[in-house]
Amino acid sequence: MRFTNALLPALLSAPLAASKPARLWATHYNGNVYTLTLDESDFSITDTQKTCGAMPSWLTYDSESKTLYCSNEDGTADPTTHGSLSAYHPDREGKLHQIAEAKTIGGGVDSVIYETGKKKFIAIAHYEGSAVSTFALPLHDNSVASQEFHFNLTHPGAVAQQDSPHPHSVFLDPTGSFIVSPDLGADLLRIYSISSETGKLESCPPVNVTFGSGPRHGVFWTDGTDNNNTAVPGAPTHQREMAAVGKTMMYLVNEIGGTMMVFDVAYARSGCLDLQKTQTLVPYPGGKMPEGATPSEIRFIGGKFYVSVRTDQGFKPNDSMVTLERSRKNGAVRVSSKSDAWGKVPRTFAINRAGDLVAIGNQASANVAIVRRDRETGELGEKVAVLQVGEPGKVGSAEGLSSVIWEE
Ligand SMILES: *[C@@H]1O[C@H](CO)[C@@H](O)[C@H](O)[C@H]1NC(C)=O
Ligand SMILES: *[C@@H]1O[C@H](CO)[C@@H](O)[C@H](O)[C@H]1NC(C)=O
Ligand SMILES: *[C@@H]1O[C@H](CO)[C@@H](O)[C@H](O)[C@H]1NC(C)=O
Ligand SMILES: *[C@@H]1O[C@H](CO)[C@@H](O)[C@H](O)[C@H]1NC(C)=O
Repeated sequence: MRFTNALLPALLSAPLAASKPARLWATHYNGNVYTLTLDESDFSITDTQKTCGAMPSWLTYDSESKTLYCSNEDGTADPTTHGSLSAYHPDREGKLHQIAEAKTIGGGVDSVIYETGKKKFIAIAHYEGSAVSTFALPLHDNSVASQEFHFNLTHPGAVAQQDSPHPHSVFLDPTGSFIVSPDLGADLLRIYSISSETGKLESCPPVNVTFGSGPRHGVFWTDGTDNNNTAVPGAPTHQREMAAVGKTMMYLVNEIGGTMMVFDVAYARSGCLDLQKTQTLVPYPGGKMPEGATPSEIRFIGGKFYVSVRTDQGFKPNDSMVTLERSRKNGAVRVSSKSDAWGKVPRTFAINRAGDLVAIGNQASANVAIVRRDRETGELGEKVAVLQVGEPGKVGSAEGLSSVIWEE
């Protein structure tokens, strides 16, 4: 889409105007992965590829090795089905060149890269597959999982969506030595310590989350990374530098319960993480989620949290982004404002490393909205550009735009 003249001055003040265009990639459940190019006068799709299986769901970029990983959500917990993980090198124009594709357990919805010494690995959360798996990197066409953790429910969930374990994400603690996987189906935080010698994951006792919460995504905070842009999730290669200095906390969004939870984190003598819940709040103005609305993605940067809220219709026909402030005193969170997501069902969003632009991936409307973020106040401001990426999907279905990420 072309910018209107009114939007141009806003974009020109961004650092990207002075340098090369910014690139993003987006996945769509229609089986395409898109390269998006944003410069001072244009935001457009510059490459479209039918790749990453039938259901491209999630992208993780390793900026160090310039490798993009794409999860295909196809498949279930039935071992006769499978999903896949693909690896690509982008060229100078951001066009993707596949270097490998490996079969995985079904239902891959999120991944994170971790490293020990010189060895790199990727861990994948399998929602339908009720599992977490890992692969040694670099990925090859014949790569097989290095580890697979399969889960069964030990007691029935609160709602039909909790019919089986559904790990929804995997993310690293600030020291890069633990992986946390919120399991939406089992109301658990599954925790793994990463062996610094072998890179193997060792299971730690899982942490209970209130029955019926449906934990989905989370983010760590440490006083070593506050106001530091590397605290932006999605910069996995920097995790090692984010040494936990002093206090560490974790912030979780729960899809089914519609809540956000705050935990004090301690590195226990047992070699595992000890999480103590210190706050539960509704990440929405007025303290109540609209009927049917669910929090989806959470990110932290510069003392603020951002939570995308699906189907709240806060800016009808569009949904909302909620900005929350973290108390410097005790780490508690309070809602500060709500802003337009510029589309329907903001399943994911990504903040650029400079912290001045947010790319919102609206699933049902299948558009990517670029919104300005004020680096002083943390408030999300005007819409810089909006781009239709593939066909819209039905609200509540596995259709539409599934993820978006910056090439950074
Ligand atoms: C889960 O249940 C299945 C079927 O009863 C069983 O084969 C499998 O071993 C169980 N897995 C775990 C991790 O307990
Ligand atoms: C976690 O929840 C399960 C099932 O409700 C319960 O049996 C167990 O004792 C709880 N564990 C902790 C540490 O609270
Ligand atoms: C985070 O910020 C601190 C203080 O400004 C800086 O010394 C450190 O290098 C930053 N960390 C990274 C990974 O850039
Ligand atoms: C909803 O988003 C679309 C796409 O950006 C935009 O054109 C429209 O003005 C928005 N409507 C409202 C009420 O915010």
